[in-house]
Parts: sequence; C-alpha cells; structure tokens
Amino acid sequence: MKIIVGITGASGAIYGIRLLEELKNLGVETHLIISKWGEYTIANETRYSLEEIKAMADFCYDEDNMAAVISSGSYKNDGMIVAPCSMKTLSGITNGFDNDLIIRAASVALKEKRKLVLLTRESPLSTVYLENMLKASQLGAVVMPPVPAFYSKPQNLADIINNTIARVLDQFNLNMKIQRWEDMIEQIKPRD
Ligand SMILES: Cc1cc2nc3c(=O)[nH]c(=O)nc-3n(C[C@H](O)[C@H](O)[C@H](O)COP(=O)(O)O)c2cc1C
Repeated sequence: MKIIVGITGASGAIYGIRLLEELKNLGVETHLIISKWGEYTIANETRYSLEEIKAMADFCYDEDNMAAVISSGSYKNDGMIVAPCSMKTLSGITNGFDNDLIIRAASVALKEKRKLVLLTRESPLSTVYLENMLKASQLGAVVMPPVPAFYSKPQNLADIINNTIARVLDQFNLNMKIQRWEDMIEQIKPRD
C-alpha cells in the first residue's frame, strides 16, 4: 500500500507523527508533506526533530513542490490522510484552491475518488468551519476530528492518541491493536 500523509499547522502534530510510525510498522509506503506551520507546531508541541519525522517516511516533499509525483492523479496510491488538518487547509480542499502540495494532493484524492481522511482540529467551530467540514464530507472525504473516546478507559495521552490513530487506520482496513468497543461491551452494559 501507498499512503500520502500531510501534517499541517493545526494543533496535534503528534497525530501525524504517530500515524507515520504505525504505517511504517505495518509496512505501508508513506509519502510525507509537512506545511510550514506544521513544522512550527512540531517544534512547539513535540520533542521530535524534523529530520527524525522525515526519516519515518519513504518519500518527503516540499509543500511548494507542485511538480511532485503526488500532485498528479496519474500517480496511483491508496489515499491520503491529513493529520492534523487545519481549517485553512480544509478550506483549500473544499474550494479546490490548490496552492500548496498538501491541498493539491488532497484535491487529487477527491477527484480520483480515493480515500481522503481529514483529522480536522479546531475548537470552538465557527459556522464557516462547520460548513467546510460538511462540504468535505459531501465531496467524499472522511471528516474525523481527533475526538477522544473514553469507553476504552485511557490511562494517559498515548492511549488517547493511539485510539484515534487506530480508528484512522481502520479506514484503510489496516489493523492496529487497541481496546475496541466489543472488548469493553461487558463493562459498559446499561444499569438495570
Ligand atoms: C501553535 C499554533 C496552533 C494552532 N492550532 C490550530 C488549530 O488547532 N487549528 C487550526 O485550524 N489552525 C491552527 N493554527 C493556525 C494555523 O497554523 C494557520 O491557519 C496556518 O495558516 C495553517 O496553514 P497550513 O494548513 O498550511 O499548515 C495554529 C497555529 C499555531 C501557531
């Protein structure tokens, strides 16, 4: 499998990083683009260096490189994940305003009817952001804000992040072991 990963400047760079790690573990070929503001949040929110993150991917591209192979629909792949996805990149995708390679590759995924998963992150959500998420969904993207699930009784931040990453990988039929609803069902029975 080949999956394109975009990391934008929304809070939650760790989602993109953990995703790259898991895709590598699963033997998936990854094509990575990090936006300028994605680089900023990586430095601001994590202890990873840019070099470490780029080394996790098989191929890396500059966000301004519109001539990259992933800028063309003729380059076959299994889809794209934008994690995290800023409201600006979301807007670019829903309006076909392809002025950087993350937005262009996402637009290509939509036009080629490939899987596109957007971990949109902002709070609270304005009407414009909500409309753009609705539009993205109507266009065929999977809109997946990284909202924690508590039924799995997370013990720490890593548990919360892993749960979200596993649900993203589910979208590509890739299996990451986590506590799933069916594992917890005995514990979450309603009271008599
Ligand atoms: C520390 C930091 C946190 C940010 N968090 C968010 C966020 O959660 N969601 C969002 O949409 N934008 C957020 N932004 C703003 C984006 O980085 C900004 O809109 C930028 O233009 C996004 O560009 P990009 O999508 O090309 O990365 C944040 C910016 C900074 C500096």
